[in-house]
Amino acid sequence: MADDPRKPEDEAAGGGRTLDRRDVLLGLSTVPALGLFGYAWRKQRSYEQQQREMAEASRPAPAPDLEPIDVALIGAGAQGQVLLDAMLRIPGLRFRAVCDIWTDFNLRRAVNTLKKYKFEATGYEDYRELLDKEKKLDAVVIATPDFWHAPHTVAALQAGKHVYCEKEMSNTLEGARQMVAAARATGKLLQIGHQRRSNPRYLHCREKLIGEAKLLGRIVTVNGQWNRAVAPDLGAPDRYLIPEARLKQYGFRTMHEFRNWRWYKGKGGGPIVDLGSHQIDVYNWFLDAVPSYVIASGGLDYHDPKTHEWYDTAMVVYEYETKQGPARAYYQTQTTNGSQGYFENFMGDQGTLVISESEANYPGRLYRDPNAPAWDEWVQRGYVTAPKVVEKEEKEDASVLDVRESVSPDEHRVPVVLRDPYHQPHLENFFAAIRGKTPLNCPAEVGYESAVTVLKVNEAIEAKQRLSFRPEDFEA
Ligand SMILES: NC(=O)c1ccc[n+]([C@@H]2O[C@H](COP(=O)([O-])OP(=O)(O)OC[C@H]3O[C@@H](n4cnc5c(N)ncnc54)[C@H](O)[C@@H]3O)[C@@H](O)[C@H]2O)c1
Repeated sequence: MADDPRKPEDEAAGGGRTLDRRDVLLGLSTVPALGLFGYAWRKQRSYEQQQREMAEASRPAPAPDLEPIDVALIGAGAQGQVLLDAMLRIPGLRFRAVCDIWTDFNLRRAVNTLKKYKFEATGYEDYRELLDKEKKLDAVVIATPDFWHAPHTVAALQAGKHVYCEKEMSNTLEGARQMVAAARATGKLLQIGHQRRSNPRYLHCREKLIGEAKLLGRIVTVNGQWNRAVAPDLGAPDRYLIPEARLKQYGFRTMHEFRNWRWYKGKGGGPIVDLGSHQIDVYNWFLDAVPSYVIASGGLDYHDPKTHEWYDTAMVVYEYETKQGPARAYYQTQTTNGSQGYFENFMGDQGTLVISESEANYPGRLYRDPNAPAWDEWVQRGYVTAPKVVEKEEKEDASVLDVRESVSPDEHRVPVVLRDPYHQPHLENFFAAIRGKTPLNCPAEVGYESAVTVLKVNEAIEAKQRLSFRPEDFEA
């Protein structure tokens, strides 16, 4: 396969790819503030390396009749690199350009990564120049900070490109509305990066287990969380600082704000938006509804208010009116303790589903309520694994079991595992939609519903009140 245009030169020469000095230097894009440099850098590097190895492990050759799609990436930071690694596994893509304002660092790294796969991508600092000069582009993938999503997406759509834009769709509803309007006006595709909507495990749970087999019965309560341990602020080495004038030109007051934009008002939305949006989007999707009310408590309880403007802790209850009846969904995110990570837990009157994007930590478990009809048929059909009976531990000194106590339900597993990088199926869905082979799994309107649901939490925390959603709030 010497002529595979996506093969990195060092691998084509034999052997696997190893980190070279440039990788190490360029990988510094994710370093934290000095002092905690080593810890977070190593952690981030090992994640990026793992993703890259997964990407390199399987790079199928495109079918000979597959018309290439010409692609550009805008925003080549941590997530831009993850998306790039996933895209490099997808046949039939031709990378033409990358845009990033951190030109000496993230831009250079992405262009160099592509060079290793024999793509001569042109680097740009300004997205307008990219859109102006790269006339052959079919699609633009956007992974810039949330407050740039609307300007970047609208400009790319208006330039006639299909767009994959990362979540949160925008940090404002006005921005999100402009994106929906631009997609409609141009007739171009706009996929929002809620990648769980293309994850085969999530699809199996929603369509087969909840939809067809109805294993949960009526879902009445939901809970979920993203708990994250205290992490140092992100920093940058002195020699790669961006000049102040350029930072200001692109809306950042300081290098700290540039690196930690998630925490700043007007740039991101804090952890509830950054982390919560993924899972709250799943609440809407699995319940097949949008909420009617939200109540939330949150605050900046721990982090330094000089460098953190958004709430570091949020505890939220949504009230839904689903087709089956009322449902309540609790969600929490906090950034001071990473215990039990992130998952979603759907509880019906016949069963419970615990699921997470993190297959390693939560491999999709189902519990049949002892009063529910047998699941034998669904085990035989391969929808769920055979049950593992959860025995009560017998201990001599154990307290006496109260006869009124519920019997532990049997534990089943979801037998569908995603072996590709998390974002690959969602990107594949986007490119297949461009080829006219499938509808988008998260089109603009769906991303908008999710943005309305999530952004309201910060409003509810501020208001200290139960806030209502009107049906028309979800229409862009
Ligand atoms: N879907 C997911 O699982 C997931 C995971 C992480 C992040 N994200 C999303 O991806 C986006 C980027 O997050 P990140 O963690 O990569 O942030 P980041 O700060 O690491 O990267 C952002 C990049 O955008 C560049 N940039 C900033 N303003 C720009 C502009 N005007 N023009 C061009 N480039 C610009 C920066 O230089 C940086 O390289 C966010 O919207 C985030 O919510 C999604």
